[in-house]
Amino acid sequence: DAVERGEYRHYMLKEIHEQPQALADTLEGRISGGRVLTQILGVDADALLAQTEAVHIVACGTSYHAGLVARYWIESLAGIPCTAEIASEYRYRNPVVRPGTLFVSISQSGETADTLAALKLAKARGYLAQLAVCNVPESSIVRESSLVLMTRAGPEIGVASTKAFTTQLAALGLFALAFAHAKGLDEARYLDGVRQLEQLPGLVAETLKLDAEIEALAADFADKQHALFLGRGTHWPVAMEGALKLKEISYIHAEAYAAGELKHGPLALVDADMPVIAVAPNDALIDKLLSNLEEVRTRGGELYVFADHDVGSRVDDSRTLVMPACGEIAAPVVSTIPLQLLSYHVAVLRGTDVDQPRNLAKSVTVE
Ligand code: G6P
Repeated sequence: DAVERGEYRHYMLKEIHEQPQALADTLEGRISGGRVLTQILGVDADALLAQTEAVHIVACGTSYHAGLVARYWIESLAGIPCTAEIASEYRYRNPVVRPGTLFVSISQSGETADTLAALKLAKARGYLAQLAVCNVPESSIVRESSLVLMTRAGPEIGVASTKAFTTQLAALGLFALAFAHAKGLDEARYLDGVRQLEQLPGLVAETLKLDAEIEALAADFADKQHALFLGRGTHWPVAMEGALKLKEISYIHAEAYAAGELKHGPLALVDADMPVIAVAPNDALIDKLLSNLEEVRTRGGELYVFADHDVGSRVDDSRTLVMPACGEIAAPVVSTIPLQLLSYHVAVLRGTDVDQPRNLAKSVTVE
């Protein structure tokens, strides 16, 4: 055990630091000449993508958050309707499937009971095809799917998912860009998106250098009972993932809200005992997010802003963490890293069992 963890105190920390390599492995051989190779989705991929008029994504837990990010990408880049939902809801709600719909399941283990059951249901519902985004090649979900796009994160031991999530985003980014290209995405935006994927390993390595700064920040959270995470656009599901990480391993109650919903409830909770973490990279929604943060500040909330170089100088607050600036595809991956590190260091300070949090399992194979 200690040998496998190497220099790291926990598997989770090791897996967080493995992300540049896991991302490079997931992208390896799938991009050529600045373009996504569509064959990675199978020999008939071009015909399939051309026929696809809608996408239904289904997953659980962290994998569901990856699906929510992909939903923003697919609608914005490909201009094709996309839903992302929790497998345990999908499988019992009689989903309506229009002709030309592609089913996508996302699972690290490929064995999650609800996701597998949703996939089996989908196979009887007349989808064009079932694509699995999965980390375990010989798993049930891979075997049951007609198309497979493997993440190559390697074994993930920590119950709280880290490198599986970011490699899912990389794989879904490849899919979204290939799909969008087939649907006539503007060439410059396509090439820029692919370039961002290629830059991911380096950007994540750079972001990991914030570790010591985040460890220092974690002290502020160790005695808190609650935390609120805010984001907009693709950074809303990233905020959801940050909140999930914190509750899973530090047992602090954490909630994520789309920042625009602040006034519809969570603002009532804001006081000095409720730290508010905003995921705030520079994107089209940044001005709206900054004005939401002002509302938190004027109500005496303790604000932590995870910004990038372009935003950092606009946030007048000492607790600003500056991440590398990057575009629409790379930003959700990069923004996830500090949130993983924050939850890790808070959990260590609270003395919890980081790799095996109470009551949770790595793979939920029973309903
Ligand atoms: C469990 C794990 C999570 C994971 C979820 C879905 O809850 O603790 O880390 O995100 O299952 O698992 P899957 O293997 O389908 O991605």
